[in-house]
Amino acid sequence: MDFSYSDSELYQAQIHLYKHVNNFLSSMALKSATELGIADAIHNHGKPMTLCELASVLKLHPSKVGVLHRFMRLLTHNGFFTKTTQKGKEEEEETAYALTLPSKLLIRSNNSSCLASIVRGALHPSTFYMWNSSKKLFTEDTELPLFESVTGESYWDFMNSDLDFLSLFQESMAADSKMFKLGLKECKHVFEGLDSLVDVGGGTGGVSRLIHEAFPHLNCAVLDQPHVVANLNGTENLNFVGGDMFKSIPSADAVLLKWVLHDWTDELSIKILKNCKEAISGKGKKGKVIIIDIVIDEADDDEELTELKLDYDLVMLTMFNGKEREKKEWEKLIYDAGFSSYKITPVFGFKSLIEVYP
Ligand SMILES: C[S@@+](CC[C@H](N)C(=O)[O-])C[C@H]1O[C@@H](n2cnc3c(N)ncnc32)[C@H](O)[C@@H]1O
Repeated sequence: MDFSYSDSELYQAQIHLYKHVNNFLSSMALKSATELGIADAIHNHGKPMTLCELASVLKLHPSKVGVLHRFMRLLTHNGFFTKTTQKGKEEEEETAYALTLPSKLLIRSNNSSCLASIVRGALHPSTFYMWNSSKKLFTEDTELPLFESVTGESYWDFMNSDLDFLSLFQESMAADSKMFKLGLKECKHVFEGLDSLVDVGGGTGGVSRLIHEAFPHLNCAVLDQPHVVANLNGTENLNFVGGDMFKSIPSADAVLLKWVLHDWTDELSIKILKNCKEAISGKGKKGKVIIIDIVIDEADDDEELTELKLDYDLVMLTMFNGKEREKKEWEKLIYDAGFSSYKITPVFGFKSLIEVYP
């Protein structure tokens, strides 16, 4: 050990280390707040709430106000609530909690931007168990994702066998897709002039519905696994197709891949992209592929954004053997799949839009 560090440097290093040891507690406190419905309670109240008011609306036993206080203190520190003071019945000063923008995203009622299902889905118990065996990632010579090597089934099979979880997963994907509306305003030109589009791995069609709203004449097909689209009803210009993107993709002017390629290895992503290329090259046309996914850019992104992208990379590694990619990795993937050019536009918060041309 080099003792040339000052005491304060060593204490700072210890704080940094312990903070990261305890990071999961912030996630769990957020999960608890989401399950309790704290954001909804404050929203429905119409003004900031004291702990006693909150405990009463959440139907907590009065002896739990102290526990609630400790959760609210951490969540407030983490930016999910703010504290204000108000006058109580006896004219005494009371602390009351108000929503911030991140907690407004957890309000369920009448909220087209609600992301509560993302919290519940991402922090589902199935996400954690495999991490007890993370050593396998470094010691075992296997192509299997950690989830599969620990549980014996792929994450897709696990979802398909647990219908409640499958519906939570699809709900969370649909919720994430609603944020797409914001980016769509900035990149309308990408969809202008198209007559048809296939949303590959499009889930329950959240993104396609928004595109369809903005471009009613555009013929949209959502391709996903047969059981995902089995009970979904389309409309005249929006239809659902059960199939397998590794086998074939219906032909169209453009193919959309939102949050799909990060689930797959380079080899399998190239297979998907080659099928996309075939789908847009019918009848001598030269269409395009529109990818919406993360592009890691440590040089230009701020710390919080980079951390989120790198966290997602480990989610993809452990669940699916997938990956988040840097610009040069996207470029290699695109050229290896036989495309000739591409353009990246960072328009969807932490995701980017990548237009790919044959
Ligand atoms: C991470 S989700 C993204 C969903 C949607 N694009 C979105 O952003 O909301 C990946 C989707 O790929 C679908 N998928 C997985 N394997 C597939 C296959 N072989 N063919 C078609 N879709 C598939 C899944 O069912 C799931 O809906």
